[in-house]
Amino acid sequence: MNNTKSALLALLEKNSDKSLSGEEIAGQLGVSRTAVWKAVKSLEKDGYGINAVQNRGYRLTEDNNILSVEGIIPYLKDGICAEKISVYGSLDSTNKTAKEAAINGGGHGTVIIADSQNFGKGRNGKAFFSPPLCGLYMSFILSPELYNFPEITGFTVAAAAAVCLAIKSVCGVECSIKRVNDILIDGKKICGILTEAVSDLESGATEWVVAGIGINVFASEFPEEIKNVASSVFLNKPSKNIRNLLAAEIINLLLTAPADAEFYARMQSEYDKRLINGGI
Ligand code: BTN
Repeated sequence: MNNTKSALLALLEKNSDKSLSGEEIAGQLGVSRTAVWKAVKSLEKDGYGINAVQNRGYRLTEDNNILSVEGIIPYLKDGICAEKISVYGSLDSTNKTAKEAAINGGGHGTVIIADSQNFGKGRNGKAFFSPPLCGLYMSFILSPELYNFPEITGFTVAAAAAVCLAIKSVCGVECSIKRVNDILIDGKKICGILTEAVSDLESGATEWVVAGIGINVFASEFPEEIKNVASSVFLNKPSKNIRNLLAAEIINLLLTAPADAEFYARMQSEYDKRLINGGI
């Protein structure tokens, strides 16, 4: 995405509750009104719904459903490095891309997000159903050195607690947790978490942890083999562009707080509160 288009999208996302005139946008972005108009057209071509009302200006329509860094940034807390967040249309697996990024120097706080996955990876070699336009598939690169966690399972606990807290605050729905990494609503799985280690070949020490989170946000159809046990946060598509908001809230929860003993204790307690089948 070119700079003007990306800056326009960020501005429209940030002001999604009001219209901005072409003049106002041009002034804020330091470009001509023609450049704004061209960028609007180009965003529309990408599938964005934009209301262009004479004398009032431009505004994103409420039914937009595109995951983007620009759509996530307005909801991020201070201190989060937005440059480390990447959003893709489709990937084989966000965990695979994150592990490759970890090996190639993408450090702590790197977040890889995809609209869909071709080979979403679940636990025990299983596939994770990852259709387009209705889910959230995200992987974090986390540094074990920065987190005061007793064991690697601490990352799964923190990720599960973050997902539950984010779903509660963004979607207003309470979840439960089935040991060790399934998040449920009304007894059905709406999210799975896969935590993987990237180790130093020589020492065998865990250099990075990749925490992968897959949420069925509003999937309505599931393959035969999981259709009785899987569900979504919403049974129908919500009117708001909720996936960007949810992504931002999970990022805020996992990356803003100092990763100290207090953070771990808080996440463990949020996890324990929701656990339906005993301790980890
Ligand atoms: C499970 O329930 O078995 C774990 C599922 C984990 C799925 C997520 S989706 C994002 C990340 N990328 C993957 O390929 N897997 C994880």
